[in-house]
Order: sequence, then structure tokens, then C-alpha cells
Amino acid sequence: MPDSMLELVGVTAGYGRSMVLFDVDVVVPSGGAAAIMGHNGAGKTTLLRVAVGLVPVRSGRVLLDGEDVTRMVPNRRVARGLGYVPQGQLCFPQMTTLENLQLVTTVRSEIDEVLDTFPALADLLSRPAGLLSGGQRQQLSIARTLLTKPRLLILDEPTEGIQPNVVAEIEEVIADLTRRGDLTVLLVEQHVGFALRATDRYHVLESGRITGTGEGGEGALDEVRAAMAV
Ligand SMILES: Nc1ncnc2c1ncn2[C@@H]1O[C@H](COP(=O)(O)OP(=O)(O)OP(=O)(O)O)[C@@H](O)[C@H]1O
Ligand SMILES: [Mg+2]
Repeated sequence: MPDSMLELVGVTAGYGRSMVLFDVDVVVPSGGAAAIMGHNGAGKTTLLRVAVGLVPVRSGRVLLDGEDVTRMVPNRRVARGLGYVPQGQLCFPQMTTLENLQLVTTVRSEIDEVLDTFPALADLLSRPAGLLSGGQRQQLSIARTLLTKPRLLILDEPTEGIQPNVVAEIEEVIADLTRRGDLTVLLVEQHVGFALRATDRYHVLESGRITGTGEGGEGALDEVRAAMAV
């Protein structure tokens, strides 16, 4: 098994002629958890979209579990174990919670397994997803991706726009997921304290460049704040 589940090596990428990421290096250790932090517009979502294959790279390479996937389309990366939870609690609002989950699998035991991780959803199965709270929709969106049994789970700001009391719940689930040995997690997160508690490696992205990287843990708080102030 390679040491890293995901690697971006010298990645420059963007939209059309306008580049957003410049010579970006990111390493996500196998079985570990890494965080990307940075201000609004720094390029965090773009970086994740490069990892998923939704934004092509201008130069550099993307390695998934040691394999060069730089030119590989997203669905083939998903087949290799990549799961992506986009920013914004996406779900199908007219479909119920259960129907949203059944888009991935109708095997009841598999659905029950993710409901163990998100017990709050168990009481909301027949409710249209559009009527769920932001926090509940976020849980649904993570649950749906977990049903695909990813080896690498990529989460884009899972606590964004969610009431503070629910943020703690979501943080707890993510912290649990990162402790599961069979799952590698890459997380974009504005809550620096939580991101450092939940991960063992961080990268700070500012204006499309990595300005700081290191081991996670709360000891890194000052380093991260300094890198973010650049
Ligand atoms: N589809 C697109 N076409 C053109 N430019 C884009 C596109 N998506 C994002 N951008 C630009 O790329 C830059 C980085 O955006 P990105 O969404 O990656 O930032 P972010 O760090 O995720 O921000 P936030 O914290 O607000 O989610 C921004 O200047 C944005 O306007
Ligand atoms: Mg973003």
C-alpha cells in the first residue's frame, strides 16, 4: 500500500485561461486525515475538484493510491474508491431522505449501517429532503456518499452555514470517521480548531498557493493562523 492515498504534485489549474491554483503540493496519508484551510476564494473547492477530476490540471500530477489519475474522468476515480461531498449540502429536495439514500443503494442493511452513524436521519426517512434543516441535509449528503463505501472521503466545508449546536454533532461524526482505519479523509474546513483536532496533517491555501503545511494537532494553531494571515 502506498504511503499516501492522495497526492497533488505541483498542480497548476483553473478555469479557462484564468488559473486559480499555482504549483500546489498536497499529501493525504493513507488511513489518515488531512485538512485544507484558507480564506474565501483561496481555491479550496477548486483544489478538491482537481482531486475529483472535475477541474483539469494545466500542469502537475494527481496520484490516487499511488496511481496517476491526472487524466482520469471522475466516475473512474469514484470506482477506485473516491467519495466526494460537495460544498452546500446538496440533495434532491422533492425526494424523501430515504429516497435520497436509495439513489445509491436499496440494500436495507447498508442503509441501516449509515443510519447508525447518523441516528438523527432515522426519524426523518419519510420527510422530503428540502424540508430538512441545513445540518440534517449535510448529514444526509455525507451519509449518501458513505453508502458508496469510499476509501477516500473528500468533504468540502461540512460545517458551513450550520447552526452552532449542530456543528458539534457533525464534527463528532467526522472525527469518528477519521479514526476509522479503513477510511482516509480530506477535509476543507474554516473552523481551524476543529480541523486540527480531526486531522493529522494540514495545508494552508492562500490565493491559490500553499503557504503552510505540517502535522495537525492543536499545537499547530499558531502556525496555521500565521500562514493564513499571509
Ligand atoms: N466555475 C468557475 N469558473 C471561473 N472561476 C471560478 C469558478 N469556480 C470558482 N472560480 C474562481 O476561482 C477562485 C477560487 O474559488 P474556490 O471556489 O475554489 O474558492 P474557495 O477557497 O473554495 O472559496 P470558499 O471558501 O468561498 O468556498 C475564485 O476567484 C472563484 O471566483
Ligand atoms: Mg469553497
